[in-house]
Amino acid sequence: MGYVRGLRCRECGAEYPPTQRTVCEACFGPLEVAYEIEAVREAFRREALATRSADLWRYRELLPVFDESSKVDLRPGFTPLRRAGNLAEALGLRDVWVKDDTVNPTNSFKDRPVAVAIAKAREWNLAAVGCASTGNLAAATAAAAAKAHLPCYVFAPASLEPGKLLLPRIYGATVVPIDGTYDDANRVALLAADRRGWGFVNINLRPYYAEGSKTLLFETWEQLGFDLPDVIVAPLGSGLLLTSLEKGIRELRELGELPEDATRLVGTQASGCAPIVRGFEAPDGRPRPVKRPETIAESLAIGDPGSGSEAIQAMRKTRGFADDPSDAEILEGQRLLAQTEGVFAEPAGGTTVATLRRAREDGRIDRDERVVLLITGNGLKAPGVWRETFPPLTPVPPTPAAVDAFLGGTGHG
Ligand SMILES: Cc1ncc(COP(=O)(O)O)c(C=O)c1O
Ligand SMILES: [Zn+2]
Repeated sequence: MGYVRGLRCRECGAEYPPTQRTVCEACFGPLEVAYEIEAVREAFRREALATRSADLWRYRELLPVFDESSKVDLRPGFTPLRRAGNLAEALGLRDVWVKDDTVNPTNSFKDRPVAVAIAKAREWNLAAVGCASTGNLAAATAAAAAKAHLPCYVFAPASLEPGKLLLPRIYGATVVPIDGTYDDANRVALLAADRRGWGFVNINLRPYYAEGSKTLLFETWEQLGFDLPDVIVAPLGSGLLLTSLEKGIRELRELGELPEDATRLVGTQASGCAPIVRGFEAPDGRPRPVKRPETIAESLAIGDPGSGSEAIQAMRKTRGFADDPSDAEILEGQRLLAQTEGVFAEPAGGTTVATLRRAREDGRIDRDERVVLLITGNGLKAPGVWRETFPPLTPVPPTPAAVDAFLGGTGHG
């Protein structure tokens, strides 16, 4: 059993054995993995981390995988935390860092939660795996399933960027292209998974899946010399990533590794699909579902977020805030990050940059605060958003005269 105590209801605290279940029988609250913290404290040593593998399994005491042989060996995680001095200067801040998850095996942070969920699917000998996806999860699940020799079924909106539908197919998955939104895809995926006994990573393996995302928090802590920043800005889709960051903070605190009040968690989504941001602003803290998401930030276009309430609680508890930049601000954020730091993020990453800019301008973030931006997906996955800004180039003939004409002048005097 490793260090896992079981599953625990986030709402009422009821405990269950660590099996394949996702909601509390007593109150229907979401379940999360609970650890034997005393035992973890004995085994989890800062000094020992340096000798461990450069992937997310370096935090194995706080991951719910018991059987080494069930791990898929794509080695996501331990991505660079880059100091972003140029971006900081451009925005009038002193201390900004970029956690660069564009370099994961399938170029998004989704390789992290998938690694844990697929390991559980193997442990339980499930016949097939799958997911409902806004794009990135599709590739991550399909790649890990390929390596694990498991059939994979991906439910996604048929309207996604072509590359995001192509990737899972290259890895050998069956793509079910749903004529509808992500929320439609999610609904039918849930039924298919239940009826066939398949493990859908973000649906019926969700409590385990969530644990993988938490490693972004642990890595940030380790890479900052066992310290957390004042602010972490994370994109919100279903809200599970941000929820998991808060769980990571809680666990480090329980281990005695963090002072009482540390990091503010800031969540961001596009103004064209901001159900969690609207819920954060409402007194009841409940997400406000969006029927027809309209944004270039496709990967965040979840109208009815499965972990929205938990994400709102996490932002409130850490005294953070929620923000929703426009598509124009998101594109500008992507461009600014690329042109100051040489990191090409997809719109989800541009969303975090845009929120940092807005929050710096209106004072929600102070110039002296240390900020980490989570850059969760690679810009090459969503090239379509640049069609208007960068229209196709007109070829230049390979002659000196043509090059001079193109550049203007001859280069002399
Ligand atoms: C690149 C990227 N960032 C962030 C998110 C949001 O993650 P979550 O659904 O856990 O809130 C997603 C979700 O699909 C994503 O693809
Ligand atoms: Zn409960």
